[in-house]
Amino acid sequence: MADEVSRETPTKVVGVRRLKEAMAKPASTRIFTVANQKGGVGKTTTTVNIAAAMAMGGLRVLVIDLDPQGNASTALGVEHCDSGGVYEVLMGSATMPEVIKKVSGFPELDCVSSNTSLANAEINLVSMVARELQLKAAIDEVSANYDYIFIDCPPSLGLLTINAFAASKELLIPIQTEYYALEGLSQLLETYSVVKKRLNPNLNLSTIVLTMFDSRTRLSNDVAANVRSHFPSELIDIPIPRAVRVSEAPSYNQTVMTYDPLSPGAIAYMQVAREIADRGKPKDVVFDSNVVSINYKGGIA
Ligand SMILES: Nc1ncnc2c1ncn2[C@@H]1O[C@H](COP(=O)(O)OP(=O)(O)OP(=O)(O)O)[C@@H](O)[C@H]1O
Ligand SMILES: [Mg+2]
Repeated sequence: MADEVSRETPTKVVGVRRLKEAMAKPASTRIFTVANQKGGVGKTTTTVNIAAAMAMGGLRVLVIDLDPQGNASTALGVEHCDSGGVYEVLMGSATMPEVIKKVSGFPELDCVSSNTSLANAEINLVSMVARELQLKAAIDEVSANYDYIFIDCPPSLGLLTINAFAASKELLIPIQTEYYALEGLSQLLETYSVVKKRLNPNLNLSTIVLTMFDSRTRLSNDVAANVRSHFPSELIDIPIPRAVRVSEAPSYNQTVMTYDPLSPGAIAYMQVAREIADRGKPKDVVFDSNVVSINYKGGIA
């Protein structure tokens, strides 16, 4: 595989390689909330890169950008559309099929974009009936079309994040391997357990991903060990390294999976995506990995 991929940086994604070895399909749609109220820990980066990696692995994936900052939409090269996005869906003025957009170059990857009006959603939702369940109702309409749905949350535990919790089956928490990493985690876990008790008993904290890991520092290793001791089965034991190419990719409206697929960050996200897919595959099913590599990359300006 390595020889076939260009290391030159495409400025536009024309098409992407599909992996030779497809990823395992889940028995039913897995819906993840990606949340951590701490800002800048890698929620968006993790969402878009795992989603892109899974789409390259042949899975049908939807990303919902639930953050008014719109970073996930930017990273996927999807316009922050004022006429229709997740805000309009939450307010009932548009349906999901109307606002789902294709991600360029990825036949299997769709996105519902955010726009700045989403910042008003927290206020406007307050007066609505079943205000915590608006997103769930919308996702239920389309979930059968996907293997994986990822909801990228803003760095807060407000009504938007609660809507994501209520609509999901699983919670994915990215944890940055730095000194204050676990600060605020107890508040997040408390919100999770309240939602699980009152709103969505099916929600399960299934996955923790370590981000911006620097293996040379004792601090990163200490944080990893600490998280592993608290969450032995939830932690994905492949940390995402701190890597320049990962942080550069969004400025080219790309994920690192197309921006530099052979870089350490891309390889790590690919491994994490495969691990998540493996954990979700139906038991006792022998998986047929015979998928042909059909795609290409281009558009070097
Ligand atoms: N593995 C990495 N290596 C280097 N930089 C990274 C890595 N992961 C994320 N970053 C950078 O760190 C910053 C924060 O990442 P990101 O936007 O994914 O966090 P976030 O939790 O979604 O932030 P917010 O809370 O604002 O939504 C971004 O500039 C991103 O490019
Ligand atoms: Mg973000």
